[in-house]
Amino acid sequence: MLPKQVKIVEVGPRDGLQNEKNVVPTSVKIKLIDMLSEAGLPVIEATSFVSPKWVPQMADHTEVLKGIQKFPGINYPVLTPNLKGFEAAVAAGAKEVSVFGAASELFSKKNINCSIEESFQRMGGVLEAARAAGIPVRGYVSCVLGCPYEGKISPAKVAEVSKKLYSMGCYEISLGDTIGVGTPGLMKDMLSAVMHEVPVAALAVHCHDTYGQALANTLMALQMGVSVVDASVAGLGGCPYAQGASGNLATEDLVYMLSGLGIHTGVNLQKLLEAGDFICQVLNRKTSSKVAQASCRL
Ligand code: HMG
Ligand code: MG
Repeated sequence: MLPKQVKIVEVGPRDGLQNEKNVVPTSVKIKLIDMLSEAGLPVIEATSFVSPKWVPQMADHTEVLKGIQKFPGINYPVLTPNLKGFEAAVAAGAKEVSVFGAASELFSKKNINCSIEESFQRMGGVLEAARAAGIPVRGYVSCVLGCPYEGKISPAKVAEVSKKLYSMGCYEISLGDTIGVGTPGLMKDMLSAVMHEVPVAALAVHCHDTYGQALANTLMALQMGVSVVDASVAGLGGCPYAQGASGNLATEDLVYMLSGLGIHTGVNLQKLLEAGDFICQVLNRKTSSKVAQASCRL
C-alpha cells in the first residue's frame, strides 16, 4: 500500500551544494531557496552550521539563513554537528535543526571526527539544548546501505543507531544511502530491521543516485509505508567525506513519479524545473534529473 501523501524534504541547497568545489555566491544560494519555496516544497534544508575548515562551501550559513524569504508553512532546517553549530544556528534564526550520525565507525570518524559512541554524546548535547529551546530535531543516519570505507553495513547496526537517535528525541530519522550503492532488496531488509525499532511514520529515506537506484529504492520504501523522502533539485549533491558519491535522487524525478502514482506532494513541477534550470546554469552543469532532461515535457 502506497501512502496517500508524501512529504518531500528538499536537500539541494545543503547536500546539493556542500560538495561544490567553487564557492557558490550567497546570493545564488538565497535565490535558489526562494525559488524552491515558490515551488511549494514543504521542507527545505537551507545550509549547515558545520566547521568552515571542514566544509568551506557552507561558511556563509548565517547570511543564507538570514537572507532567505521565510514562507509561512515551510520549514528551513539546518545541519548542526555540535553545540557550537546549534548555538550559531539559533542565533541566525533556525527554527529546526538536524543532527547527523552514521551506522559506520569509519565514516563517522571521517565525517565528524569521532566514533559512533562519541557522536551520541555530541548529538545528545544538541538534543538537550534544542528541547530547552523548543526546537524540533531531525536525525540522519548515514551509510545505511553501504559505506565507502567499511563496505557492507548490517541492517542490525542501522536499526541500533536509528533507535538510539529516536530514543534521544529526534522526531524523524532520515536513513541515508550516502554513496548510493543500495538496491531495493537491501532497502527492504534494512527498513524491515529499522521498523522493528522506530515507527515507520518517523522514518524518511535519503537516497543518493550513484548507481542509478535512488528512485527504485525510494519506491520500495514507499511500498513499505515510508512517507517522507529526501531529494535534491537537479540531482545535485554528494558528501565531501564520501569520494565518488553522486547527488541525491532528483526532486523533479520524485515529483513526476509521485504525481503519476496519484500521491499528493503540493509541489509545482514547473516551478521546480525552473529552480533546477537556474542552479544548473549558475554551476554551468547539466542537470542530473531525467525529467528535466526530457524534451517531451508533458
Ligand atoms: P573537529 O575538528 O573534531 O572539532 O571537527 P573541534 O571541536 O576540535 O573544532 C575544530 C575547529 O572547528 C575549532 O576551530 C572549532 O571552533 C571549529 P579552531 O579553534 O581550530 O579555530 N568548529 C566549528 N566552527 C563552526 N561551526 C561549528 C564548529 N564546530 C567546531 N559547528 C566537526 C568536528 C563536527 C565540527 C567537523 O568534523 C565538521 O564540521 N564536520 C562536518 C562534515 C560535514 O558537514 N559533512 C557533510 C554533511 S553529512 C552528509 O552529507 C550526509 C547526509 O547527507 C546523509 C547521507 O547522505 O548519508 C546528511
Ligand atoms: Mg546526503
